[in-house]
Amino acid sequence: MILTIESSCDDSSIAITEIKSKKVVFHKKISQELEHSVYGGVVPELAARLHAKALPKILEETKEFFPNLKAIGVTNEPGLSVTLVEGVMMAKALSISLDLPLIAINHLYGHIYSLFIEKEEVFPQVILLVSGGHTQVIEGRGFDDFALLASTMDDSFGESFDKVSKMLGLGYPGGPIVEKYSMSGDVNRFNFTVPLYHSPKIAFSYSGLKNQVRLQILELGDLSEQDKSDICASFQRVAVEHILHKLKKIFKTKKIKNFSIVGGASANLYLREKIEKLCIEFGVKLHLTELKYCSDNAVMIGRYAIEAYNRGKFIKFDEILSRPRVNL
Ligand code: KG4
Ligand code: ZN
Repeated sequence: MILTIESSCDDSSIAITEIKSKKVVFHKKISQELEHSVYGGVVPELAARLHAKALPKILEETKEFFPNLKAIGVTNEPGLSVTLVEGVMMAKALSISLDLPLIAINHLYGHIYSLFIEKEEVFPQVILLVSGGHTQVIEGRGFDDFALLASTMDDSFGESFDKVSKMLGLGYPGGPIVEKYSMSGDVNRFNFTVPLYHSPKIAFSYSGLKNQVRLQILELGDLSEQDKSDICASFQRVAVEHILHKLKKIFKTKKIKNFSIVGGASANLYLREKIEKLCIEFGVKLHLTELKYCSDNAVMIGRYAIEAYNRGKFIKFDEILSRPRVNL
């Protein structure tokens, strides 16, 4: 079995996965959403202190598995430097005390492997990664063989939901809240423009759309609940239209067999529904992560760790660093 730790942002999570069967035998996650919601976003220093409390508490529950462990895996990049280091230090301590090899895992690879939890890998695959920190289209050719096809020039898809929610005073994390408000809103009430619509660039941008929402809120003044729902619905429609517009361009130029959506924001049902239609139109097979594994968790880190373990991809104790920013 492999024990994996995830602490790149505001979720403290530990998982234990069987190497041969790929079965998840233990998973616990303590989220900090409540603690950060008063600030409208994640406060790194507070997040680090909460990880320092939560991770040892979860680890306590995994002791019975220690004799079966073959390796320790940990997310070491990208993420918040002060929170990554909490998981990395715990992984180092476990590696020394249990005399087990260490595996360093890129969080984004973890999100990609959330597709394969308790399943076999499927490659080649084109992947849309939508989270709080990233909006990327990635071409996955195989294990550790990824190429970036498109990414955001400013804010990410998930982050724009967080910011719209904050501007409307609805709380954090904004994604699920904005999606819920959208359900009772009019998608066509506000005619926000689709970002980069006339640009040939295969890239994403959300800062302009966020600003359009800000100006609309200012213009309306006092907002009724219906106004808030209509803003959320119109914003979500355009945010998703932007993705569909650029994906269509990629689908037209590339022969794609398998397509998938991963990352915290891939739980958005409106986005899933629209991409499902797009895949049918282009005859592409769509792969989705189970809803419970879309947001950050150590199980997806564990799934990647199995592949790394089988290939002997270990890292020396003094080589493992927490790196906040990395290229794919
Ligand atoms: O992958 P994740 O848990 O953390 C990062 O690696 O960033 O993604 C969290 C992000 C947040 O910005 C959150 O608002 C967004 O995903 N999110 C959503 C939804 N659920 C979570 N965005 C849109 N619709 C959702 N249903
Ligand atoms: Zn994530």
